[in-house]
Amino acid sequence: MKDLKRTKIVNLIHSEDYGKVANVKGWVRTKRGSKNVSFIALNDGSTIHNIQIVVDHQIIQEDAIQNVHSGASLSVTGEIIKSQGSGQNVEINAQNIEVLGEADPDEYPLQPKKHSLEFLREKAHLRFRTNTFSAISRVRHALIFAIHKFFNDKGFYNIHTPIVTGSDAEGAGEMFRVSTLDPKNPPLNEDGSINYKEDFFGKETNLTVSGQLEAELAALALSEVYTFGPTFRAENSNTSRHLAEFWMIEPEMAFYDIHDNMDLAEEMLKYVIQYALDNCKDDLTFLNKRLLDEEKNKKQEERSEMELLEKLKFVIDNQFERITYSNAIDILKNSKPNKKKKFQFPIEGWGTDLQSEHERYLVEKHFKRPVIVTDYPKEIKAFYMKLNEDNKTVRALDVLFPQIGEIIGGSQREENYDLLLKRMQEMNVPQQELWWYLETRKFGTVPHSGYGLGFERLVQFITGMGNIRDVIPFPRTPQNAEF
Ligand code: 4AD
Ligand code: MG
Repeated sequence: MKDLKRTKIVNLIHSEDYGKVANVKGWVRTKRGSKNVSFIALNDGSTIHNIQIVVDHQIIQEDAIQNVHSGASLSVTGEIIKSQGSGQNVEINAQNIEVLGEADPDEYPLQPKKHSLEFLREKAHLRFRTNTFSAISRVRHALIFAIHKFFNDKGFYNIHTPIVTGSDAEGAGEMFRVSTLDPKNPPLNEDGSINYKEDFFGKETNLTVSGQLEAELAALALSEVYTFGPTFRAENSNTSRHLAEFWMIEPEMAFYDIHDNMDLAEEMLKYVIQYALDNCKDDLTFLNKRLLDEEKNKKQEERSEMELLEKLKFVIDNQFERITYSNAIDILKNSKPNKKKKFQFPIEGWGTDLQSEHERYLVEKHFKRPVIVTDYPKEIKAFYMKLNEDNKTVRALDVLFPQIGEIIGGSQREENYDLLLKRMQEMNVPQQELWWYLETRKFGTVPHSGYGLGFERLVQFITGMGNIRDVIPFPRTPQNAEF
């Protein structure tokens, strides 16, 4: 009986193999019972659903499962039977139970009750075992798969761009240093500065903030490529939408202008949301209900107007609004919250960057749908964006989503050597570090475009989670690198 191959619970709950004997393995969620019979809810992570194990104490004595509590791991062999209760199709009538690992109920932190997300963050080593976090983990996986499928089906090539770099792609100076020098006793130059020539790479290096610049090099030969890698930002942002380590999808396409770029971004977002709806039904249904329960505790005006599943369908079914930055400023300047001084950062005029509150106003209150804002002032965007004829704005695009704000940032790239060089000089971007980037504008330059999608912000939107720390297994944020 021991040699019976394990069946995953996800396959079992959809089977109708009544009368057959099966083996399941997993972790106990709950155990309850009486003198004659006990019921164990077992979960193996293959589905949000538990399988109910019926333990008849005439077959398996109560003593044998005396030390089975929430969190213990079991191997159970028994007969598949039609469930008496509602909800599940099948249960297992246990014939043999092997306790693989006990969990002391006085010490095990996950009791069969609702724990706060804050508490679970401190138990990140165990939170995979909760319904919420296991559902998010499965949805996250499905989205990774969907993104690769989307680009693969379109003939894009996945490029691995470096994680350790010598350049600052965004020019924002928010990088983590990579060094093997002894911080207590670093080699010094004559002027007292640190001599990075003696460091591991013979120069100053950092963790990358974006794979874009290297992706551009590949696109200027392979036409359509994308990166999907970890990126690192040493910005001290303690918000529900910022991580110091996050994953970014960055497609880069030769011969695309800003309109082609927007079309691709919109198509991609709709594709992956549809993929989640098609492939993660049980988990999204669970997360939809979780959010409804959570919203009950909120004030009426803070509640979202749509349920999670409704919101996902709405995004798929509606065209994203496309407006320029100048339009956005006009709308915001004349908006109710601006006139009533309700914005934390009042909109005074053209030229200031949009804050999250402004982005959310445009999306949630004004247009009531995702919005793509283009043509931002050159001063507030990166050096590589293509300058418009007005000499004031660049061909930038930001995709703004409800609850999230900016989910994608991108642009058409400056492909003219002289203009790019000028922008680098104006913005103090060191050209000697980026000589290779500049050279692509000397040899067979072409119009090209790309964007970056913050993967965790996408997972947040699709799972309805309010805090980005709850959609990545081990979040890295200021003052926090546990696990
Ligand atoms: O707008 P960003 O900074 O753009 C770039 O890095 C470009 N190089 C992308 C490109 O054109 N290839 O970042 C892109 C996206 C943002 O829209 C946001 O979704 C996400 O990355 N993002 C973050 N996500 C989590 N935590 C942070 N600290 C983030 N910073 C940016
Ligand atoms: Mg941005």
